[in-house]
Amino acid sequence: MSVLTLALSKGRIFDETLPLLRAAGIEVLEDPEKSRKLILATNQPDVRVVLVRASDVPTYVQYGGADLGVTGLDTLIEHGANWGGAVAGAGLYTPLDLGIAKCRVSVAVRADFDYASAVRQGARLRVATKYVSIARDFFAAKGVHVDLIKLYGSMELAPLTGLADAIVDLVSTGNTLKANHLVEVERIMDISSRLVVNQAALKLKQAPLRRLIDAFAQATQA
Ligand code: PRP
Repeated sequence: MSVLTLALSKGRIFDETLPLLRAAGIEVLEDPEKSRKLILATNQPDVRVVLVRASDVPTYVQYGGADLGVTGLDTLIEHGANWGGAVAGAGLYTPLDLGIAKCRVSVAVRADFDYASAVRQGARLRVATKYVSIARDFFAAKGVHVDLIKLYGSMELAPLTGLADAIVDLVSTGNTLKANHLVEVERIMDISSRLVVNQAALKLKQAPLRRLIDAFAQATQA
């Protein structure tokens, strides 16, 4: 029996993938918030879930550490940037927009920073972000000169400490920005999570993978 390995990240993506799995008849048998285990069994002996960092999901799937995974479009674009600009990258097939973990990538600044004037005057902006590729393309298309500062988290701190004039970050409810006295000044793109599949696995494990992809597709449309 060949086992299907599904890569998920803890938090919103895991939580919002559970109902899709359930619709495909798959129940994850452990709660990642309670267990320290990284490989979770399911009620299907031929399906297991591995927990990885959100930004590692495309890497696991690309190299076959997992047969498929769920990852945000933001993560997929940043991953693809390392592979010559293709959205997914070599060896990855992205058959489905799952419509889950919806949010947006936006530009935010301190409430007292006049972003519109700075842009109008052609000022050089310092922008802190985890999403370097998305930010670079966005500001290049606008003709705004930026110095990008790569961060790995807590982006909201950057404008508050003088590290940057602006941030490019995910916004969902807007509560994090509000709590840190930042305002959203531009919406760059809408984000949702995608199913990513290893292309070699698609050939080797065609029948079980197709079944799962079709079940996800049906659950997504429901
Ligand atoms: C994201 C993002 C913001 C927050 C926005 O972080 O970086 O901090 O969510 O959500 P809100 O608009 O609903 O307040 P996430 O929780 O994904 O973790 P991260 O800091 O690791 O990116």
